[in-house]
Amino acid sequence: MTKTTHLDDDAHLGQDALDLEHQGQIDLLLAVEMELRGAAGKAQLHTLLDRLIEFSNIHFMSEQVLMREQAYPGLPAHEAEHDQLMDQMRDFQKRIESGEGTLTAADLSTLSGWVLQHIRTKDRAFAQHLTDNAEEIGQSSAAS
Ligand SMILES: [Fe+2]
Ligand SMILES: [Fe+2]
Repeated sequence: MTKTTHLDDDAHLGQDALDLEHQGQIDLLLAVEMELRGAAGKAQLHTLLDRLIEFSNIHFMSEQVLMREQAYPGLPAHEAEHDQLMDQMRDFQKRIESGEGTLTAADLSTLSGWVLQHIRTKDRAFAQHLTDNAEEIGQSSAAS
């Protein structure tokens, strides 16, 4: 059985680039979770987790670059949450590599919940900031 999930209305931000990357992140989280529900071959899990870590890192970095460009005041708190999520993913990868501790589908489900919560709160606030700034730029150029 293949399970797919799409960003629900709460997690859909209306910023195409961000929404596309979030969908990619959620798809990878789900792929790891599905692997853990099935045969969970170590090599396959390792590869999928690597992909998730790499994708998430690039996504988080690109958000942070955009925030710096925008002088976004929420950057420090936002970055701290990104760091926590990355730490969690790297901890999962370590568990697979060392064979110590277990990694379960429930762990992945919890992580997906945190990522979605981040998107619905922190990323949504930044998307709103982008929208507000775009309106201001539009207004000032219309006024000149
Ligand atoms: Fe994000
Ligand atoms: Fe974010």
